Amino acid sequence: MVDIHCHILPGIDDGSKSWEMTAEMCRVAAQDGITHIVATPHCNDEFDYDRDRYTEMLAELSDAAEGRVGFSLGCDFHFSYDNIQDALTNPRRYTIGDSQYLLVEFSDYALPPTVRQDLLSLASCGMVPVITHPERNQVLLRQQDLVLGMVEQGCLVQVTANAVTGFWGRQSKKMAEWLLQRDTVHVIASDAHDPVRRQPVLSGARDAVAKLVGKEIADALVTLNPAAIVDGQSLPYQPTFR
Ligand SMILES: [Fe+2]
Repeated sequence: MVDIHCHILPGIDDGSKSWEMTAEMCRVAAQDGITHIVATPHCNDEFDYDRDRYTEMLAELSDAAEGRVGFSLGCDFHFSYDNIQDALTNPRRYTIGDSQYLLVEFSDYALPPTVRQDLLSLASCGMVPVITHPERNQVLLRQQDLVLGMVEQGCLVQVTANAVTGFWGRQSKKMAEWLLQRDTVHVIASDAHDPVRRQPVLSGARDAVAKLVGKEIADALVTLNPAAIVDGQSLPYQPTFR
């Protein structure tokens, strides 16, 4: 399996706190059957994003995983005015590896009134926004149809693995299931922050999704589609969005 959203680089955001913790996260992921992880540090008001420095850290990350997991660099890109402007100028500064795919995290308090236009602007600069964890966003939880509109305009949807298995509560689980049943989910990722509480594991979600919508889709969401995203390819499994 391939995990495209993981706060595994130590000491740079609210994810892993040390190389020891990072090594433990690698062990947990490998044990779960994850072969590739995209390290996605936050880029928001609280945490700066230093692409060059994080790229240099990838070699040490490989050592921490003892070669059992491969890595790329991405970014947990907060959808703020400043971030958007910078991404429009430097489209490959925030995307996953050398690909066109950009993780996008919305504020829990409000979406900008220009959200649809802003997403189109990112797309017009060659980026494909991947909306992260809509099932945990307080605005989107109240207005679920907004997610469908974003998919209609070409965005992808990433649901959190442990939202499917209930960690984020009943409302988030219900919305994750609603999106899955409408065939509006492109990828499942861990959004892991540590080796214990918010772990880099996908197998539990894969099994729950298989029960809900079938094994073929479940495997696509944790393996085929995220692998294609890492490689900058179009998605082998295209949700029909009904
Ligand atoms: Fe995240």
